[in-house]
Amino acid sequence: MVTQRSSILDRLLVLEMVRVTEAAAVAASRMIGRGDEKAADAAAVEAMRLAFNELDFEGTVVIGEGERDEAPMLYIGEKVGKGIGPKIDIALDPLEGTTITAKAGPNALAVLAIAEQGCLLNAPDVYMDKIAVGPGYPEGVIDLAKTPSENVAAVAAAKGCAPGDLMVCVLDRPRHQALIAELRTLGCGIQLIPDGDVAAVIATTDPDTGIDLYMGSGGAPEGVLAAAALRCVGGQLQGRLLFRNEDERARARRWGVEDLNRIYTLSDLARGDVIFAATGVTDGSLLKGVKRRRDGSVTIESVVMRASSGTVRRVFTQRRG
Ligand code: FBP
Repeated sequence: MVTQRSSILDRLLVLEMVRVTEAAAVAASRMIGRGDEKAADAAAVEAMRLAFNELDFEGTVVIGEGERDEAPMLYIGEKVGKGIGPKIDIALDPLEGTTITAKAGPNALAVLAIAEQGCLLNAPDVYMDKIAVGPGYPEGVIDLAKTPSENVAAVAAAKGCAPGDLMVCVLDRPRHQALIAELRTLGCGIQLIPDGDVAAVIATTDPDTGIDLYMGSGGAPEGVLAAAALRCVGGQLQGRLLFRNEDERARARRWGVEDLNRIYTLSDLARGDVIFAATGVTDGSLLKGVKRRRDGSVTIESVVMRASSGTVRRVFTQRRG
């Protein structure tokens, strides 16, 4: 049911969120291919924060650039917006794909998700094991408690094909050696990506990408952002936090995680009337990147989606410089 607050979220904030991701993407785009991840990220962060602070709302960053003592801006707990209007929780990544941007690779995005207070998992900045499929599959077709082979078999059976006919997207990391070897024995296609698992999870929802499944570990904050997108467009995702040491476990407990082995479903990660917005920084499967024309104008492509209505709006913006 659409609550009064939900309609406020929708009408006042949906398009405003695009302005925010646009600002971050345009700022980061000046650093595409410049070999400087930090400068690209800093430009996006600063622009996103400025754009947020133009808006009439009381925003709290719940997933951000790190904890208060380690990030100068958009840290977890920071208040953004003018401090009047609806109270909103925000998960953000002003530049998802800092290395991609520095190397002018594909699929760098400026992304954020907003929801009513308490609806986005307060995920610590640790790794998360993830599995995701697009819409149209029976609920429960993927299950992180099962092996990769069992999951591939279940998705293949539901799709009506052989396991070897599936394309699985995996981050190209040494830690995924065993997963990749197992997928190879099944004969699956594997799309190995250098970075950017928010775009990769969303790619499972678009048949044109050819990607059926996303598997492997990446950032937990990116898991919440990807879950917010799937809440809007459909699909399934499960995530389990991964800890490399006691410090990371302690950090998770500080954020209120009681069961460190818990498998989170889509709506454990992002509940309620979530809005997800993204703008392309570099060209990718979801969006084209920011382009500067000879006359100095800039073209920008964004998407903004809302969970409660399933609305997906694509926004093309052209502006003078
Ligand atoms: P950044 O933009 O913060 O560099 O993140 C890029 C990314 O590839 C994410 O998409 C992914 O979740 C994470 O890094 C994976 O972490 P790692 O590079 O440590 O494997």
